[in-house]
Amino acid sequence: MLSKNMEKSLNEQVNWELYSSYFYLSMSSYFESISLAGCANWMRIQAQEELVHAIKIYDYINERGGRAILAAIAQPPADWKTPLHVFEEVLSHEQKVTALINGLVNLALDERDHATNNFLQWFVSEQVEEEASASSVLEKFKLIGKDKSGLFAIDLELAKRVFTPPAQ
Ligand code: FEO
Repeated sequence: MLSKNMEKSLNEQVNWELYSSYFYLSMSSYFESISLAGCANWMRIQAQEELVHAIKIYDYINERGGRAILAAIAQPPADWKTPLHVFEEVLSHEQKVTALINGLVNLALDERDHATNNFLQWFVSEQVEEEASASSVLEKFKLIGKDKSGLFAIDLELAKRVFTPPAQ
């Protein structure tokens, strides 16, 4: 059984993950609008992954005798200055999510809630990957600067990303 505090905190995380999905879908639409279909694809898959994260926590709350409550999702931004700016925001968003996951782990440890701590370890590992993948794309955008052929090459590479449901 989850404590009320843990139930509330996990529900807040569900909302963050749903917002993350919205945030990346909005970025995908921005990339569509500037004809970078590969970048749009990368973001669309990122949005799908965030939905999986949200559902994973939603299921866990219900499984542990709590109740997943769906709150309003904040409106994400719609425009960015440049593709580089978008990926700077992706990385800082993922760093924020990592801090939130760490906060949940701290709460689980404080409450000696071993099951929730164990559940959250999947997210701890996932955040390492999330930050690494955002950072690797960001570094590429930094490298190419204003070079148009570099931008084309990155877009082609990001077009290859496919959605694979995260391992359980
Ligand atoms: Fe669900 Fe990208 O953190």
